[in-house]
This record gives sequence, C-alpha cells and structure tokens, in this order.
Amino acid sequence: MTKILLKTLKGNTGDRVPFWFMRQAGRYLSEYREVRATAKNFMHFCYSPDLATEVTLQPIRRFGMDGAILFADILVVPDGLGQKVWFEAGLGPQLEPVQNETAFDKLSLDGFHDKVGNVYETLRRLSRELPKDVTLLGFAGAPWTVATYMVEGKGSKDHGAARQLGYGNPALFDRMLSILVDATSEYLIKQIENGADAVQIFDSWAAAIPEPYFRKWIIEPTREIVSRVKAKFPETPVIGFPRLSGTLLETYVRETGINAVSLDTGVSLDWAAQHIQPLMPVQGNLDPHLVVAGGDAMEKEALRILDGLKGGGHIFNLGHGFVPETPVEHVARLSEIVKNYRR
Ligand code: CP3
Repeated sequence: MTKILLKTLKGNTGDRVPFWFMRQAGRYLSEYREVRATAKNFMHFCYSPDLATEVTLQPIRRFGMDGAILFADILVVPDGLGQKVWFEAGLGPQLEPVQNETAFDKLSLDGFHDKVGNVYETLRRLSRELPKDVTLLGFAGAPWTVATYMVEGKGSKDHGAARQLGYGNPALFDRMLSILVDATSEYLIKQIENGADAVQIFDSWAAAIPEPYFRKWIIEPTREIVSRVKAKFPETPVIGFPRLSGTLLETYVRETGINAVSLDTGVSLDWAAQHIQPLMPVQGNLDPHLVVAGGDAMEKEALRILDGLKGGGHIFNLGHGFVPETPVEHVARLSEIVKNYRR
C-alpha cells in the first residue's frame, strides 16, 4: 500500500496521477448536509471529532481520492487566539473585528491548544480510520488571508480594511502577522504530530498586493512558518497556495521553502510546466465551475491539464474549492477520468 499522493509531494512521480479536491467535504454532498444539520453551529462542527472525522471520510468513500483533507476551517486559528468567530447562514464567517491595539491586546496564545485540541483528536482518528493508501492532509490559512478576516470581521471583496491597517499602522499589523506566525506554526506542527502526512497553507486572498507588501505580508510569514515546521519535521511536505498571485507566484515558490504549490485557474499550463515544475510538483488549476457544467467542457479541460503537466510532478486538483451546486455525478465522472489516465 503506497500513499502515491505523499510520494508525489516528495518528488517521486509514477504513471498514475494522484488527486484530491479542495472543499471535497462540503455542501454539494447530501451526506455532508445531513451531518451538518446535526451540529450546533459551524465552529462546534469543526471541534466535534465524531462529525469532523465522518465528513472528512465521506468524499473518500464515494470517489476514492488519494488525499483526505482534515475537516476544519482557517478561522479556527483566530478562534483559538480568543477572537470571537461565528458563522451566519447566508452571511458566511463573522468575527469581532480587530482594528486597534485594545482589540489586539486581547488575543493570546495561552490556551490556544486547549481551545483547538479537538482538531488534533480528529486527526488521530483519521489516521486510524483512513485506508492506508490515502494521504492525510492537514492545513491552515496563511497569516495574510486569516488577517483579512480578523481585521474586516467578515469576508470582503478587496480586503480594504486589512490593507489599510497594514499600510497605515504597520507596527500593529506586523504584531498581528507575528502572532499568526506563532500560532500557525504550532498548529501545523501539532497536526503533523497527530497524524497529518502533509500540510497545505491556504493564501486564498494573495491577489493584487503590491510587491514590497507581498514580500512582507505573504512571503516572509509563510517562509517563517515553513522553516519552523521543517525544523521539527524536515520530511513532511508543505504545500503553498498563493491564490491569484500572478507573476509573483514564481517568487513565492522560490523563496518560501514550500515543497509543492497549488495553481489557481488563471495560471498557464505551459508556463507552469516550464517555470514551476522543474522546481517542485504542482497541483490544481481546474476551474470548479467546469465541474458544475460537466460534460465535454469538463472532460476536455481535465485532459488538457493532465497532458499539460505530465512532464513533471503533478497532483490533480481544482483551482479553488467546489461550489455547493456541484452535481455529484460530475465529481464521480471527473474522478474516473483522473483515475484512468496514465502518463
Ligand atoms: O474539503 C475541504 O476543503 C475541507 C475543509 C475546509 C473548509 N474550509 C470547510 C468549510 C477548508 C480547507 C477550508 C478553508 C477555508 N475556509 C478557506 C481557504 C480556502 C478557500 O476556500 O479559499 C477560507 C477562505 C475559509 C473561510 C470560510 N469558511 C468561508 C469563506 C466559508 C464560506 C461561508 C459560506 O457560508 O459559504 C467557510 C465555511 C466552510 N468551511 C464550509 C466548509 C465545508 C461551508 C459551511 C457550511 O457547511 O455551511
């Protein structure tokens, strides 16, 4: 029994391309919606090892992915630091915003692991219950992306509040990134200690940041997290996902110390094959809306990605997570296409 996803992350490619999907556990699955309905609220769901283990396993049972991603959320970290976090139907995540020193000073690492400890229990259970050839992926949000929610108090279009705080009060914003680096490094290390085979750092909002700030807010904190994780677990792969980072993607790949990178839907395959795959394996790129549309368009694009990246390390994935209206039959078809493909 070989974990081919883990092998690929470590730089060994075989003839079958391993696959998993971002947001593979989620509302497009009826069995997920059933479990979700029994949870008191979304954060409680993330902290319930029974429920979180079950929904992590659901897509594996149905589609046989090579990787299972821990069910939790990137907002577990601010919650663990003592910020108030809740989810409201139709509104998405809500937080008590942190925009000044008084609010920031209430955050603390004391008690962090107690607060989020059930996530570690979920990983222990998953490492026992998953089929032996399935790679268990842990994850966290990158400091910049998590900070956009912490400062704004919710999701936003352009992350204006976080950018304005970063430009206008760099001392406070640096302290915020720094506590996030501390918490996230420890959180990922504990995830690995409790069974994660590899971890992914989601920087979903790495779009359109001026280069000097991209270095300060995105590259430096990520490099620091990777180096702390590597100091403890040099063999555990770390996947980066600087979504929509454009031409700075290559800088991120070269400077953060990550082992593999996720490509958003806008990255050219020829360019990635030429510039990124010689450095590390890649995953991602399929537009999640193609899986809603299905049919020929989806098949053609899936094959274009498989062919376009077959010269180097490749893990098949989406360019961003599944949307709730994705038909399960399309996910089943897509999974078959990838499983049957040979390089
Ligand atoms: O399969 C998986 O990918 C599992 C786990 C996972 C979730 N969130 C579960 C979840 C992961 C890796 C995340 C990461 C996450 N959460 C990110 C980074 C990746 C990305 O998608 O860009 C971000 C930005 C968040 C913050 C967040 N959490 C948002 C914006 C939302 C959507 C709010 C909404 O109402 O749709 C969530 C909620 C969330 N996290 C859901 C799931 C399955 C849906 C909630 C539900 O069941 O109602």
